[in-house]
Amino acid sequence: VTETSNFTIDGDLIREIYLPRNEFSHKGNFGKTCIIAGSFGKIGAAVLATKSALRTGSGLTYILAPKCGYEILQTSCPEAMFLYGGKDFIQNFEVENDFICGIGPGLGTDPEMEEKFLEFLNNYSLPLVLDADALNILAKNSENLNLIPRNSIITPHPKEFARLFGETKNSFERLNLAKLKAKELQIFIVLKDHHTQIVTPEGEVFYNVTGNSGLAKGGSGDVLLGMIASLLAQNYSPKNACVFGVWLHGKAADFAAEKFSKEAMQPSDVIDNLGEVFKKLY
Ligand code: APR
Ligand code: MG
Repeated sequence: VTETSNFTIDGDLIREIYLPRNEFSHKGNFGKTCIIAGSFGKIGAAVLATKSALRTGSGLTYILAPKCGYEILQTSCPEAMFLYGGKDFIQNFEVENDFICGIGPGLGTDPEMEEKFLEFLNNYSLPLVLDADALNILAKNSENLNLIPRNSIITPHPKEFARLFGETKNSFERLNLAKLKAKELQIFIVLKDHHTQIVTPEGEVFYNVTGNSGLAKGGSGDVLLGMIASLLAQNYSPKNACVFGVWLHGKAADFAAEKFSKEAMQPSDVIDNLGEVFKKLY
């Protein structure tokens, strides 16, 4: 490992990555984000990921969720379009090949979902953003890992990482294992933690220093997935979508903590403070 492959994500790097919106643009210039998430009792995960994708600038935003989420999602996210296939929503949907999919929060891992999701992966080759139950399903069988499309992004928290790739003794070993797997599978791994690390297939590591313990609440990860998928849809490279997304998430959380405190802030407040962060980039 050479020193030049380790980076701290700072304001200068973000300003290099950030793509200002062209005033002569239209919605077609900002991609189609498709959030695939939610199950009975966990539709909130889909709401958070969708709202987050919308507030990160996605041109068109779609949601694929079970039917029980229809009214909730159409009411809470009127800017997004709801696609579903009834009970078998994940099997029946037709994802067009210009969609960028963020998949996993609150999806569930029962055998039926497992079968449908793996079938979906078998027929899909564009980069995906995979989180939560998408990762938990993949973790059921190590051969599943080969189904992840190249250049995809996975966003495991430490336990999800261990389920996917095995236990490690400490964070140093975990990082080394992540480098190995990122290279082997040609994917980007976002190791979520207090200081989140992004590992690229080329062996680079980006360290994030934004964010705070107010993020240690259910739903924060769903918000991050929406941001990264939205950036990927807007033509950021997978690497830049991870780096910018993780930094944005933490920075918006820092604004939320300032306004509400680390205790009271909610994942939705992180979404609502994205604007404060973008305005600083102009
Ligand atoms: N400091 C900074 N950032 C933090 C801290 C902290 N102390 N704690 C958490 N975060 C950030 C992480 O870096 C990550 O981006 O908050 C996010 C938490 O994501 P998850 O661990 O995925 O949490 P959550 O939203 O609860 O996940 C929802 O999905 O992963 C499953 O089992 C999980 O049911 C849960 C669901
Ligand atoms: Mg999570």
